[in-house]
Amino acid sequence: MVDTPKVLGNGLLSDAAIRANISGSDVSGLRIEVEGTLDSTNAALKRRAISEDIHGLALFAETQTAGRGRLGRLWVSPPKSNIYLSLGWRIGLEPADLAGLSLAVGCAIGEGLDREFGLNMQLKWPNDLYLAGKKCGGVLIDLVQSTNQDWIVIVGVGLNVAMPKLGTVEIDQPWTDLSSHSTVKVSRHEVGGRILEAVVPLLSSWQVGSFGQWRESWSQRDLMAGRQISVQQGGHAIAGRADGVDFSGALRVVTNEGLTVVQSGEASMLRGETL
Ligand code: BTN
Repeated sequence: MVDTPKVLGNGLLSDAAIRANISGSDVSGLRIEVEGTLDSTNAALKRRAISEDIHGLALFAETQTAGRGRLGRLWVSPPKSNIYLSLGWRIGLEPADLAGLSLAVGCAIGEGLDREFGLNMQLKWPNDLYLAGKKCGGVLIDLVQSTNQDWIVIVGVGLNVAMPKLGTVEIDQPWTDLSSHSTVKVSRHEVGGRILEAVVPLLSSWQVGSFGQWRESWSQRDLMAGRQISVQQGGHAIAGRADGVDFSGALRVVTNEGLTVVQSGEASMLRGETL
């Protein structure tokens, strides 16, 4: 039996092909640009925000030389394989009003990609995308102020579509890619289109407290729910049972002392007994 490749055409990304894969009035006004090599699509949009309006600009790169993950980590970004995307959006709110936004973005992407590619994506707090227990993507949100002081969010999305053999490069945790799990063939243009279709309506309708509408859907994809976890926060760790997220997207952890709500940090799952 011939093993049919799960990734359609490993040609370069093109803005026209991505645009041909999106529909909906929300996304029609987007500017879509594809660059060959960038240090980081988030960093590139930050620089551009100094001199131009990046609202509605979706910037893709074939490869990143200094792709960034959360907590200053490197995001391994080999060429012609994956999605590295940043979208600029004038949100019309203050940073304090954005609680839960990055979780909702991950959730919207999961919903969109599951539908299209027959996946069962899970979410690890705060904004990691998982397939079959391994990380396949993540969301990194940066904020910049435009020249007239409006806040602009830069929504960065890294998604492994068809990760090549990495040679000497190492990723510090188990990882997978979309084409290893999809029930249908995957094209990066389609993946890019589905991500934009999922994220743009969310950004255009985001208001204070909007995460409340996403909480149920997020909880259904919660990788850590009920598991023993440890959350690293600055110099100390909180250990307990993961108990979902609250209406602001903060992580609920049941410790021996009672319920603790964690706004930020790095969570990992333990193999211990439940409390
Ligand atoms: C994480 O899981 O730590 C978040 C990863 C986010 C990676 C993406 S790739 C596109 C954009 N540009 C970057 O430098 N980072 C984000």
